Amino acid sequence: MAAQINPSILSADFARLADEAKAVEGADWLHVDVMDNHFVPNLTLGVPVVESLARATGTPLDCHLMIENPDRWAPQYVEAGASSVTFHVEAADAPVRLAREIRAKGARASMALRPATPIEPYEDLLPELDMLLIMTVEPGFGGQAFLDIMLPKIRRTRELITKHGLQLWLQVDGGVSASTIERCAEAGADVFVAGSAVYGAEDPAEAVRGLRAQADA
Ligand code: DX5
Ligand code: ZN
Repeated sequence: MAAQINPSILSADFARLADEAKAVEGADWLHVDVMDNHFVPNLTLGVPVVESLARATGTPLDCHLMIENPDRWAPQYVEAGASSVTFHVEAADAPVRLAREIRAKGARASMALRPATPIEPYEDLLPELDMLLIMTVEPGFGGQAFLDIMLPKIRRTRELITKHGLQLWLQVDGGVSASTIERCAEAGADVFVAGSAVYGAEDPAEAVRGLRAQADA
């Protein structure tokens, strides 16, 4: 699959979200980081902002829920207009039931792993998912340094996907930039979240094209 680049609006200007979404039209997805100040020590936005964003942009929304109790809240993000919803396995009570519910509501179901969460216990769950997110920083903030020690986990996850003949996408999030994206792609990731590397650039749309070209090389 051709590499997909998902700019993270966490690094955008929150007072100008509609314009910031337009600035990256041409990106595959817009990555929307939802934080509740409990699962992570930061607070961002919730369902009403996702509803407004879904109306403001034609780019599909990839909602990354860094929240407690995703079993209760994730379905509301599908109703708000998200085309993909990612919950953290560390926070979910019933990940299989939740993934099925997200799919039944019409969105892609995705599960995220914090850096210290191994993939191996979840091998049997992979067929229930459309995407797996491997965090390459501790979730909570943009602009952190990429954790190279996650590369073996990306590689092992790609091997599991191949072994089971699955179609699911493998996303990386955190510290992805021009200097790290090639390592992620080489390890087997095919969906790349980039916050500061896109919105910190003079021309965000150009930054998206540059990252995609690097990942596809
Ligand atoms: C961090 C978020 C990321 C963040 C990435 O917890 O999940 O999506 O926006 O930002 P960068 O690309 O700057 O590391
Ligand atoms: Zn994210």
